[in-house]
Amino acid sequence: MEKILIAGGSGLIGREIIRQLDSEDYIIHILSRSTHEDTEQVKYFQWDLKKQWIEEGATEVDFIINLAGAGIADKKWTEARKKILIDSRVQSASCIQKALESQSFKVKAYISASAIGFYGDSGDQWVDETSSPADSGFLSKCTVQWEKAAEKLATVVNRVAIIRIGIALASDGGAFQKMMIPFQFRMASYFDDGSMYYSWIHIEDIARTFIHAVRQNDISGVFNGVAPEVVTNKKMVETIKDIKSGWYLLNPVPTAALRLAMGEMADVVLTSNRVQSEKIVKAGFEFKYSKLEPAIRALLKH
Ligand SMILES: NC(=O)c1ccc[n+]([C@@H]2O[C@H](COP(=O)([O-])OP(=O)(O)OC[C@H]3O[C@@H](n4cnc5c(N)ncnc54)[C@H](OP(=O)(O)O)[C@@H]3O)[C@@H](O)[C@H]2O)c1
Repeated sequence: MEKILIAGGSGLIGREIIRQLDSEDYIIHILSRSTHEDTEQVKYFQWDLKKQWIEEGATEVDFIINLAGAGIADKKWTEARKKILIDSRVQSASCIQKALESQSFKVKAYISASAIGFYGDSGDQWVDETSSPADSGFLSKCTVQWEKAAEKLATVVNRVAIIRIGIALASDGGAFQKMMIPFQFRMASYFDDGSMYYSWIHIEDIARTFIHAVRQNDISGVFNGVAPEVVTNKKMVETIKDIKSGWYLLNPVPTAALRLAMGEMADVVLTSNRVQSEKIVKAGFEFKYSKLEPAIRALLKH
């Protein structure tokens, strides 16, 4: 049976990947900063990024998926927080690299998470994997360093793939759960004039993208992990409102209020990203949810 290590596998996307991976096919290792009880399907290992230490045996696997990183939208972006956001990603890659350099067992593929924040604010222009990173903005700076650290793994594994993840929509965490909060108060809130493009992906599909990258041994390089139908922020909120039915007030939240509450971190919701998904489709990936409406219906069980 093949073995797969998921670093940061205890999070939103990791949990969905584990759910989908057939226990018949893979033995799963999870790297975490804390201790967990092993299950029938999953064996947990610890690591310490500051000490660049990984528990023995964790990386003796066929494939590695690295999802580890401090939560981008969890805390205000002070200079200290920005350092944690970058370090947790760069050091996780370097820690795995060091462990692989000192073992004889060759890993077949290293699949790293990245984010569409790489492209910065691209307004209504389409961007694809060949587009340059933005020349300003923290999200872009962070992802550029994250991807550079991931690319270095090419010296120790057979292939490296990087998935630039869009807004992963899940009912049990992440952006969608936060978007649903105003609905509890009968508000359908969009940001500013709602014209910024949101490149989203259903949680099942982003997990399937990572599994596809594991299974297809010709997949290497950078791929966007976003659904084909990109919509504006307002359209997304209206779609949720229509599916929920009942009475909700469609209301704009002004940029100034967002900046006051979130500071620079408001970039996460104000940035417009119209991201192409063609490359992963050409690499044989079939979306289960390529359009927003069925994706939202599935999340809301409507
Ligand atoms: N979800 C999205 O919409 C989205 C969009 C774009 C990019 N991404 C990226 O994709 C990756 C996975 O996303 P996710 O939503 O599953 O994230 P998540 O739920 O926040 O999980 C990430 C995992 O990283 C580990 N972690 C947290 N802080 C860390 C630190 N300081 N040092 C090392 N490890 C740390 C945690 O595992 P332990 O506590 O077990 O150590 C956590 O479970 C993340 O890097 C995220 O930035 C996600």
